[in-house]
Amino acid sequence: MATLKELLTERYGKDTGIGDDSEADTAIEALLTRRSIRAYKDEEVPDDLIEVLIACAQSAPSKSNLQQYSIIVVKDQDIRDRLAPWCPRTPGLESKPLLLVFCADMRRNQRVGGFRDRPHVNNNMDTFLNATVDAALAMGYFVTGAEAAGLGTAPLSSLRDNIGEVSEILEIPDGVFPIAGVMAGWPEAPGYVNQRLPQSIVVHRDRYDDSNLEAEIDGYDQTRHNIFPIPDERQTRTDLWGVAEFYGWSEHISRQLGKPERPEFKAFLKSHGFDLD
Ligand SMILES: Cc1cc2nc3c(=O)[nH]c(=O)nc-3n(C[C@H](O)[C@H](O)[C@H](O)COP(=O)(O)O)c2cc1C
Repeated sequence: MATLKELLTERYGKDTGIGDDSEADTAIEALLTRRSIRAYKDEEVPDDLIEVLIACAQSAPSKSNLQQYSIIVVKDQDIRDRLAPWCPRTPGLESKPLLLVFCADMRRNQRVGGFRDRPHVNNNMDTFLNATVDAALAMGYFVTGAEAAGLGTAPLSSLRDNIGEVSEILEIPDGVFPIAGVMAGWPEAPGYVNQRLPQSIVVHRDRYDDSNLEAEIDGYDQTRHNIFPIPDERQTRTDLWGVAEFYGWSEHISRQLGKPERPEFKAFLKSHGFDLD
């Protein structure tokens, strides 16, 4: 049993002055200690548990209850074997105990409009965003449910690295696209809590104010570095920017974002039924 202060200190990597010595509620403790897990025991996840976890996913809020998402449970070994080479950033994808693909889905309600003889006149940015948010929330609820059941999970945007090939293999039709995969299984090891930005950066009071951002980010870099320093060999894009003497979170993400990621994504959506008007 941990106190709120202990859990919050672990989440932020330092005592940020919030939380007290009261015992945390079990659900709150589960959220505050959650972490991605990428290595699993070679044990199956039972189908009836998967069904319950998908019901957890479907329990997420949904814009106007439009439920604009679909979930593909990928069990067929042949399909997994064909997918894996298109997701090289996730080695061993073909043998993860559980692999699900969460998709934003505008198509279903376009078809429903057809059944009701109504035009669907919302193939636009708003629907794209609503469907993406619905799918992301469903994924989040799936992850929360899975972790409550003792599974380890990790979302996978790597499934979008070759979105055309992945969509073809999964026979994903126009009006639907994968937002991310989720892999899951019984954890091989407990993993660790990954420290988050302090609330002083993320939360704004009454109006947006990031005037102290640089100093605050320096502090966050240092906090993380004190706990998990990143070794030189794990620095990213050293071909472009060399090996940094101090390699913190801000150096890492600015290197990542300093190179275009998935520049073909918009063209993919446009050629797969999304007008994005
Ligand atoms: C939309 C999304 C996509 C992600 N894609 C990947 C991925 O492709 N590979 C991976 O190992 N982790 C992926 N992650 C997991 C993040 O790396 C992870 O959540 C983040 O580093 C924070 O760590 P934590 O979840 O352990 O707190 C993804 C997470 C989200 C929300």
